[in-house]
Amino acid sequence: MHNLKNKIADFVRIRTIPPVLNALLSELADDHSNIDSVSKIISQDISLTARLLRVANSAYYKRQTEIRTVNQAISVLGTRAVKALALSVSFFDLTGGLEYSGAINLRDFWRHNLEVAVLSSQIASDMPALQPEEAFTCGLLHDLGMVFFIQMMPDEYRQVLMQAANTDLLEKTEIKILGASHSGIGAEIASAWRLPNIFRDSISNHHLAEIQNSADGSISIWQTVNLAHKYSRQGIDICPYISIENLRARQAILDRLNIKPEKIAAITSRVQEKVISMAAYLDIDIGDPWNLLSRANAELGELYDLYEKVIIDNGRLQSEIERNTEKRMTAESMGAILQSFGQMVKSCNEAIKNNLRTIQALLFAAEPASENQEKAARSLEAIRETINAINAIVDEFRQPGELQPPLNGSDSSIREINQKIKARMECLARYSNTLKTYSPTGKKITAPEEPFSSSS
Ligand SMILES: [Fe+2]
Ligand SMILES: [Fe+2]
Repeated sequence: MHNLKNKIADFVRIRTIPPVLNALLSELADDHSNIDSVSKIISQDISLTARLLRVANSAYYKRQTEIRTVNQAISVLGTRAVKALALSVSFFDLTGGLEYSGAINLRDFWRHNLEVAVLSSQIASDMPALQPEEAFTCGLLHDLGMVFFIQMMPDEYRQVLMQAANTDLLEKTEIKILGASHSGIGAEIASAWRLPNIFRDSISNHHLAEIQNSADGSISIWQTVNLAHKYSRQGIDICPYISIENLRARQAILDRLNIKPEKIAAITSRVQEKVISMAAYLDIDIGDPWNLLSRANAELGELYDLYEKVIIDNGRLQSEIERNTEKRMTAESMGAILQSFGQMVKSCNEAIKNNLRTIQALLFAAEPASENQEKAARSLEAIRETINAINAIVDEFRQPGELQPPLNGSDSSIREINQKIKARMECLARYSNTLKTYSPTGKKITAPEEPFSSSS
């Protein structure tokens, strides 16, 4: 533990907060900060100014006229957006300038942090008391403790990651092997850097399974980061499998923050494209589309796991209710819906593999590049729509407990569940028709070969 304290002190000493970042942080919560004061702070740092102007002129904003000064950037983008942008870029430089990648894939790491940042800001955008830009920067920095472990204890951390792989025991394993969790260490570093409390709270609470209402009933940014983390699909510190307990905990937080299921579904269905554009915007390398596509395929594996888990639950349920005819009928309906869902996942997987093959073929084709690009873009779009469709179906399935008939439920509650099952079967049938046509060439999907085989 003494060793750990020394390492934290070393980290804080090596990675000192630049004066410009400190000044920006004190301006962060100040609604009265004007263009001149923010511009003056940013202009003190030449490299930050250069990066800010580069991203302000990037394709993300599709501007006709070039932005040449920090003042112009602020008047066009807004003071809050420029502060958030400058903070994000500074934080990335402060923590992301790591060369070491032996313990962890840094692109995966930043993709996860960006995903949580995007989700946090989207969740906060509907809450009048919160600033989405602040939620974004808090989300971006939530795994600061991991940066410490990666840089200061890479070999030990690799050991932790190997032991905790495919479990939800990362923090427990960190404490067992290293003596502290990344949430705890991150919060300590945030305090040493004197970051505002919203950062420290977001870092220290992002893994909490449950959250309590604050005494005055207000909602805090760290709560949005906590919820965002539970919806993140990519990252080394998230639970790799979906459990009923986790789904229930997530639903409880949604209820507590008064967020409607349609709202969160709308946010999550578009998160990946927002992550890609924010990465371009902030000039953060999160890997190439190939990597993202294989990630998308990995998501399907996760869906299979969910499917299997529901089947097991269903089997257990079936044996418990076999004496009750009406309940047995409910269980049979569940069996049917699970079968359809399994076929749907397979069909999605085939559609994705087919599109991957098309993209790969386009890379080696002798056609004009622009034509290939168009086809590749259509394939990517088809993959995106496929993933969205399957996510929409999964969101239906993720309503915790709804499809489980209560063992001692009344006849009316069983009838209600039967109706919900019917609605889900209709949802599956609807997507089933769409998915059959998901192919960039419009051809019927045939049994795919391996997407990356040299023969394709
Ligand atoms: Fe974490
Ligand atoms: Fe995380």
